[in-house]
Amino acid sequence: MDRYAVIGNPIAHSKSPQIHAAFARQTGQELSYEALLAPVDGFAQTVADFRAHGGRGLNVTVPFKLEAFALADRHTARAQAAGAVNTLAFGADGIHGDNTDGAGLVRDLSANLNLELAGRRILLLGAGGATRGALLPLLDSRPARLTIANRTVAKADVLAALFAARAGDTALDACGFDALAGRRFDLVINATAASLADELPPLPPGLYAEGALAYDMMYARAPTRFMRAALADGAARVADGLGMLVEQAAESFTLWRGVRPDSAPVLAELRRQIDAG
Ligand code: ATR
Repeated sequence: MDRYAVIGNPIAHSKSPQIHAAFARQTGQELSYEALLAPVDGFAQTVADFRAHGGRGLNVTVPFKLEAFALADRHTARAQAAGAVNTLAFGADGIHGDNTDGAGLVRDLSANLNLELAGRRILLLGAGGATRGALLPLLDSRPARLTIANRTVAKADVLAALFAARAGDTALDACGFDALAGRRFDLVINATAASLADELPPLPPGLYAEGALAYDMMYARAPTRFMRAALADGAARVADGLGMLVEQAAESFTLWRGVRPDSAPVLAELRRQIDAG
């Protein structure tokens, strides 16, 4: 049977095995999908062992996405832009590296949350790996404006400069949180690590335009602190990142198997389980 896995450290709480098992059942694909714990200094060796024992592909999570990029022989344009790889496929011609995180985000926004991104004003909070992975797929959906705001402004400036040539008609800019005062957006995406520590990026009030969506890349049982603050500040609706998790998995599954699973029932079941605790 074709073997797949998600590799990371830690990995025990990953939902990817459950998501991919559901996709496989639904599409009638014969495959196994497990969680693989790699030592922090043993990523390449663990991948090599997995591949030698019938592994066909891997999802890669914290802290190995940069090492996965280095390991791949070839990269998709979106992995190249992200500078990180979350999906490896092993073929006769070598190791293929992709990054499905940003595409998963865009698909969650457009297909699950029915948000048309073209022509919209988007604010991306944070300038780490999560932001970098999202930039090309977001720019490809042709928003009117894409603003990157970060606590450390220099890091946002670097990303804006790096992606300037890919911006097309989108006005791409970078700033600190204070400089957002008086500006309004249709979509605000929290790609900072703040929610993980139950902290909040220090944002000025009044960021949300009429009908605006606040999106937290993190997911949780209850609305995150960022989601609660956004509602209090006038966001029309809020979403967490569970849909992004399922959609990036669907993109990886499609890449490996050539069949696109129906993500909606898988997302609904995961949500039901999380709500039930
Ligand atoms: P990831 O790969 O998940 O994006 P990262 O590369 O460590 O993680 O980046 C974390 C991001 O969250 C950074 O943009 C960081 O801001 P700085 O660049 O100024 O460090 C941001 N971040 C982390 N904690 C934050 C907080 N409490 N408030 C605001 N931003 C925070």
